[in-house]
Amino acid sequence: MKTRRTRLLTLLAAAAAAFVMTPARAQSDTVKIGVILPMTGAQASTGRQLDAAVKLWVAQHGSKVAGKTVEVIVKDDQSLPDQTRRLAQELVVNDKVVALAGMGITPSAMAVAPIATQSKTPLVVMAAATSSITEASPFVVRSSFTLPQVAVAIAEWAHKNNIKRTVTLVADYGPGFDAEKYFAERVTLNGGQVLEKLRTPLRAPDFAPVLQKVRDAKPEALFVFLPSGQGAAFMKQFGERGLDKAGVRLIATGDVTDDDQLADMGDVALGVISSHHYSADHPSAMNKKFVADFMAANKFRPNFMAMGGYDGMRIIYKALEASKGAGGEALLAGMKGQIFESPRGPVLIDAQTRDIVQDVYIRKVEKKDGQLWNVEFDVIKAMKDPGKQK
Ligand code: DHB
Repeated sequence: MKTRRTRLLTLLAAAAAAFVMTPARAQSDTVKIGVILPMTGAQASTGRQLDAAVKLWVAQHGSKVAGKTVEVIVKDDQSLPDQTRRLAQELVVNDKVVALAGMGITPSAMAVAPIATQSKTPLVVMAAATSSITEASPFVVRSSFTLPQVAVAIAEWAHKNNIKRTVTLVADYGPGFDAEKYFAERVTLNGGQVLEKLRTPLRAPDFAPVLQKVRDAKPEALFVFLPSGQGAAFMKQFGERGLDKAGVRLIATGDVTDDDQLADMGDVALGVISSHHYSADHPSAMNKKFVADFMAANKFRPNFMAMGGYDGMRIIYKALEASKGAGGEALLAGMKGQIFESPRGPVLIDAQTRDIVQDVYIRKVEKKDGQLWNVEFDVIKAMKDPGKQK
């Protein structure tokens, strides 16, 4: 009697399990993408740009991929790496996302990389740009850029323009170290000099003391890398302290003449030469459409962060098509080796390094129709990350 009852209970339990399994199976027609961004806090402009670009991609391309419904879940990490890690864990364990994406700053990407490895979840780094991020997990794929790419490009431009004596100023963390190292190496290799290497904190930097040091060192040019969002404050101080008038030429990565802030920088930004992978002024037909659609939806100009988000979504969508909606290794395989035309120009996701190979442009800030733009005038084609060529 007891055994019969046990058997009956087991059957009932199995039936109940089958019943609760049904909605779960129906749900497998949905694939979820977990995008973690700094929507508030010090890097909020990065989050705002990326979020707008992800939404634009979905608006243009729909929510159906490989017969499945794509659901994008956006979470705010306030650019605090402990939050990024916790949110990534929840997205993988509770939401069962097929891909993680976003990563506004390098420490966030580094905090999530072990979770990507352990759970075999592809992690599309859309913003962070320290070279070594792609080496932190075999599941990292990058749609942004690397600081060595753009630092080497501007160092070459300085050499060609007979600038010999330089000072560097970078944010005091991963991408800043890369910018400083690769700029200095190339300048020295070309027979130039770095007189001084200055750093400012990632959070709440004060540019006054370092600009005084620049003035004292009297270089021909100051090379600057600061994360997106700090360019306007820096440019204001540079002008107020009269460094431009003292004959110090400002050269930078495009993070400083950021399209998000460029329009409000004023004339001190005019003539600044920078190197970067994206300008909203890039003259291709595809970019003109991208900028027009983006501005119609958002009323602000897209910057390089938006580009990383837009192309990151492209990489995920195409990989989902290739894997027929499956995640894990199959999804990662679909990301490797993608070649496509982006609004920034032609790009390749290098299958070996999972890093982005792209054109790096030299640009000059110019005024057109009363607005400031980074106008591209030279290009280094198909540049690999110099950080991976050791
Ligand atoms: C990173 C952040 C930025 O805002 C930027 O412009 C470049 C790099 C980073 O943390 O990797």
